Amino acid sequence: MIEGSDVVDDRTGGRRRRRGGKGADVRLTILGGGGFRVPLVYGALLGDHGEGRVTRVVLHDVDDRRLYAVARVLADQAAGVPDAPEVSTTTDLDEALRGADFVFSAIRVGGLEGRANDERIALAEGVLGQETVGAGGIAYGLRTVPVAVDIARRVARLAPDAWVINFTNPAGLVTEAMSRHLGDRVIGICDSPVGLGRRIARVLGADPREAWTDYVGLNHLGWVRGLYVKGRDELPRLLADPALLGSFEEGRLFGADWLRSLGAVPNEYLHYYYYNRETVRAYQQAGKTRGAFLRDQQARFYTQAGDPATPALAAWDRTRAEREATYMAENRETAGAGDRDEEDLSGGYEKVALALMRAIARDERTTLILDVRNRSTLSALDRDAVIEVPCLVDAQGAHPVSVDPLPDHATGLVCAVKAVEREVLRAAESGSRAHAVKAFALHPLVDSVNAARRLVDGYTAVHPGLAYLK
Ligand code: G6P
Ligand code: MN
Repeated sequence: MIEGSDVVDDRTGGRRRRRGGKGADVRLTILGGGGFRVPLVYGALLGDHGEGRVTRVVLHDVDDRRLYAVARVLADQAAGVPDAPEVSTTTDLDEALRGADFVFSAIRVGGLEGRANDERIALAEGVLGQETVGAGGIAYGLRTVPVAVDIARRVARLAPDAWVINFTNPAGLVTEAMSRHLGDRVIGICDSPVGLGRRIARVLGADPREAWTDYVGLNHLGWVRGLYVKGRDELPRLLADPALLGSFEEGRLFGADWLRSLGAVPNEYLHYYYYNRETVRAYQQAGKTRGAFLRDQQARFYTQAGDPATPALAAWDRTRAEREATYMAENRETAGAGDRDEEDLSGGYEKVALALMRAIARDERTTLILDVRNRSTLSALDRDAVIEVPCLVDAQGAHPVSVDPLPDHATGLVCAVKAVEREVLRAAESGSRAHAVKAFALHPLVDSVNAARRLVDGYTAVHPGLAYLK
C-alpha cells in the first residue's frame, strides 16, 4: 500500500500526498482514541525514527473529555522529541477515517460500566463474566459487533486501501465480523500469545527473537505446543522440569502436573476453562470485579488528566502500573501463583501493533502471532473463520503459516467456541434473540438453556446497545 511514488489521493479531496519514501506522510487513525492504552501506542511510535514511520496520528472518540485527557498525556510524551508524530483529535468518525493509511480500532462499546455489568449479571447466574470468555464475552460481543461492522463498512467506503488493526475485544470475533467487509485488510492482534512465547523462551534461556513459537487456536484460546530454537524443540525440556515450570506465570497458573498432562502450555485465558469453578467462585467473592475496579480507577484517571493543573503523564503512569499489577489477580490467587513477574508488567501490545505496521508499510518481513482468516490452516474450521496463528507479514499483509493439527480436546474447544461466535454474528446480523440465546446456551462454560435465556434477559435489560435483539 505504501509505495514510494507521489499519488493524488481523491479520498483526501484531491490533496497531493506523498506515501512512502523520504518525508512521506503516513497517517494512523486510532478509533477509541481517548482510550487508556493509546499512550502505549504513541510511546512506541515515538521510538520509531525510520523511513515510512507514522507522521500523523488522528484520535477519534465519541467522548470529548477522554480525547482531551489522552491528548494531554501524548503531549507530555512528545515533549523534547523533535520528530514526534503530530496529533489531532476529532469526534467525527468519517473525518477520522478519510485518508487514513492505518486504522487501529480499540473501542469499548458501553464503556467500563458495560464491562462491569457483563461480569455482574453472569456471576449472579453462577457463570463466568470475563470480557472475552464465557457469558461476559458473548454479551460484549453482541453489543460490539454491530458497531464494528458499521466501522468496517465506513472504512471500505472512505479508506479502502487502509489496513485495519483490530485490538477491540473480543478480538477474534470482532476481527471476523469486520473481515466480512474488509477481507484480509483487517488483522486482529493480542499480546497474550507473544507474552507467553517470550516467557517460555526466557525460562529456557533462549533469546525470544530467535525462538519459533508453535502456537495456534482462537484469540484467548490457544496453545503453545513447541518452542523451537535453532530447529530444536525446547518445550519438552521445560515440561520435564518442575522448577522451570514453577518459574513463570502460566506454569504457576496451570500447575506443573496439568501442563505435563496436556503436553502444551495454554494461553493464560484457558485458566477460565480448566479451572472454571475456582475462577467463578473467586470472581464472585472479589470485592470488585475487574470491570468495576477498572471503571473506578479509570474514572479517577480521566478526572486527573483532564485537569490542566495535573501532570497528565505522571497520572497515566501511576494508573498503568496499578492496572498491570492487578491483571488477572483473582486467577493468580486461586492458583496460589503470587504476584506477576517484573518483566511481565510492561505489556507488549503496542510492540505487536508497531511491528505489524512496520512490516506492512516497509515490506519488512517478520513473523507475528495474529488473528487472521484460517484459509486451510486448521482443517476443522472453514476458510473464513478467524483464528490466532503465527503469520508471515509483508507489504501484502499477514499470511498464516501451516501448523500441526491441534489435539482432539483442543479442536473440540476451538470448534465449540467458534460455533458460539458464529451465533453471535448471526444474532448481530439478523437481530434475532433466538440466535443470542443459542450463543449463550452453546458455550462450554454455560451449563443450561434456561440460564442462557435469563442471561439474554438480564443483559438486554441493562445494555441499550442490545435493544436490537427482538
Ligand atoms: C491482555 C489481553 C487483552 C486485554 C488486556 C487488558 O493483554 O490479551 O485482550 O485487553 O490484557 O486487560 P485488563 O483486564 O487490564 O483490561
Ligand atoms: Mn487479548
